[in-house]
Amino acid sequence: MEVFGVDIGGTGVKGAPVDLVTGTLVRKRTRIPTPQPSTPAAVTEAIVEIVEKHGWTGPIGVTVPGVVQNGIVETAANIDAGWVGFDARTGLSDRLQMPVTVLNDADAAGLAEAQFGAARDQSGVVILLTFGTGIGSAYLYGGRLIPNTELGHLKFKGQKAEQYAAGRLVKRGDLEIDWWAERVNEVLLYIEELFWPDLFVFGGGISKRFESYSHHFSTRAKIMPAVLRNKAGIVGAAYAASIGAGHG
Ligand code: BGC
Repeated sequence: MEVFGVDIGGTGVKGAPVDLVTGTLVRKRTRIPTPQPSTPAAVTEAIVEIVEKHGWTGPIGVTVPGVVQNGIVETAANIDAGWVGFDARTGLSDRLQMPVTVLNDADAAGLAEAQFGAARDQSGVVILLTFGTGIGSAYLYGGRLIPNTELGHLKFKGQKAEQYAAGRLVKRGDLEIDWWAERVNEVLLYIEELFWPDLFVFGGGISKRFESYSHHFSTRAKIMPAVLRNKAGIVGAAYAASIGAGHG
């Protein structure tokens, strides 16, 4: 079975058809820089362009970097504020003329890693964190997703955890990778103290270099890099659409 997945990020909108038996992309993904300003209308047109490029007409799953309840986007920390209150499920399915499932980007990555990646067959509690523009989180228990956890917004040292330790701090050259990893470890230990996961999955673009900084991590729980890397959002979006697991 194939379903189309789209991942809306702070810098790029990416999409491809996904094989849901293997959890792999059927064709090379298409990436369009996220329109600026990243309003719902502008991003919708970017999605239309990607979907049309692949000649796709079936159902699609779409990730959004914010809380999504019943298809409605409730927060927008790293995307245009116009998304708050936007009924993405209805808006996108009206424009695309196809069924659309909408869910949080980190939740999609968590589902993908639980189904096809690092957290496959893992029992107990898994927390996936994505380190990119912000910090996203997915909380899974026995493979089931508890949506919209937003652990990147935990208050830590007087600021949000994602202001303290997002991957973008390294990308922008604001922090050396070792200093950043030390900060990440502090955040991981704090999350561990509150949630006691059995496994942390470390995601986001910066997880490519996991081996170069993972010696800074001292959690009691195992910690593994995400396997699906930059495809996790797309694969998870398609998977959510296939099982109706979108919170939209
Ligand atoms: C948003 C989350 C999102 C994360 C990663 C955070 O700022 O609040 O919903 O998952 O960034 O994009």
